[in-house]
Amino acid sequence: MLDPALAQLLPRTCEVRDGVLHLGGVSVTELAATYETPVIAYDAADVTAAALDWTHAFDDYSPGAMIAYASKAFSSVGMLRLLGDLGIGADVASRGELESALRAGIDPRRIVVHGNNKSRSELEAAVAAGVGLIVVDAADELELLTEVAAAASRPQSILVRLNPDIVVETHHYINTAHAGSKFGVPGDMATELLRRAAQSPWLLPRGVHVHLGSQLLDVAPWAEVLTWLAAWALQLRDDHGIAIDVLDLGGGLGIAYTEQDTPPAPADIARTITDTLAHAWAPTGLPLPALVLEPGRSIVGRAAMTIYTVGVVKDAGEIRYVNVDGGMSDNPRPVLYQATYRALLGARMDDAPDGTWWVAGVHCESGDVLIEDAALPTPRAGDLLVVPATGAYAASMASTYNLVPRCAVVLVEDGAHRLLLRRETLDDLFARDAGVTP
Ligand code: LLP
Repeated sequence: MLDPALAQLLPRTCEVRDGVLHLGGVSVTELAATYETPVIAYDAADVTAAALDWTHAFDDYSPGAMIAYASKAFSSVGMLRLLGDLGIGADVASRGELESALRAGIDPRRIVVHGNNKSRSELEAAVAAGVGLIVVDAADELELLTEVAAAASRPQSILVRLNPDIVVETHHYINTAHAGSKFGVPGDMATELLRRAAQSPWLLPRGVHVHLGSQLLDVAPWAEVLTWLAAWALQLRDDHGIAIDVLDLGGGLGIAYTEQDTPPAPADIARTITDTLAHAWAPTGLPLPALVLEPGRSIVGRAAMTIYTVGVVKDAGEIRYVNVDGGMSDNPRPVLYQATYRALLGARMDDAPDGTWWVAGVHCESGDVLIEDAALPTPRAGDLLVVPATGAYAASMASTYNLVPRCAVVLVEDGAHRLLLRRETLDDLFARDAGVTP
């Protein structure tokens, strides 16, 4: 039996059989033997459950809500296809992410395009694809997009990214709605951009976008921003006669990485949003807006774990290290954001922890430590070390530092498993090295 506090860090299908961790009916030992380690394994049932939690959370909201998965959290065509089949759209922030969503067959009308410095060719590709919404981030971009839409003779629906100057509690690198952030424009500039857009025959201004930040563990910021937005939208209507009919509230809902984290559920966010709309928006007399939500981490974060093999176990005096065969190249989050994780020995789940070790990676940096003070049963070379909750921003931010090829990413479903992304080979790495003689 998995302890419930630990179970919330793992895919919902996880169970322990004879001391071995299983997800989706498949053991971590089988996955390690099939794909080599490190390997990142997603549970399809968990992704589906998390995605449906989001869509059902807004079942009772009558203008409706579109859930656009923030594909930066993890984007592969197989994953996007799984989500697209559930009616989920995609938030894309680059040409590559757009391409991935289109190849997965996501309805372009359900694609929302982001970026604080979109190039002309990115905008051309988005307009040509017929994306539902392009989120304009700056005055220069409004002009560029007008040109692009006019040249394509395709009127384009847009939102303006608004920066409400709200500081939320999270790591400052993933705090995005404060004054001085590189994203969005302040309220008065957003008003101006919507006004200009309304005068262009090629732009259809539909509303605004706000993304508060990421890994948020409290519902309060959503209430705060909506109350602010209601007053701003009323002013916009009164001063300029422009009505907001779409409100995109971005992503940001956090997940549990350790037993200490207690994130709200999508239903809690939905209740906060709809209650605040009822209390702050409805009294203004403005029609309720259709909503867009862009969850990334809270759809895929819990669904995956990284399986490593233990190599050298070393006592360095004050610190004991357990070295694994991956590290900051397959998960840069600890190094970038001081993110905390839990470690488990996947084939020794019944052994009680008897000490703490630092989990170190293979890279040539003393900072390449995935976890400090991980409580474990005494680890031995060859053990499988599992790090839960690596489904978001691990594979998608992976690098090939030290010329270490990127690991495989697999999907487990009903006792079967298949590749989403194959392991990179050395030949893949050298294929782009112009110094290599054919
Ligand atoms: N929408 C917009 C416009 C965003 O910028 C983001 C995340 C999301 C949606 C999705 O947010 P989520 O639901 O996943 O929190 N690499 C960092 C996270 C960066 C998030 C960037 N934007 C990390 O590993 O924590």
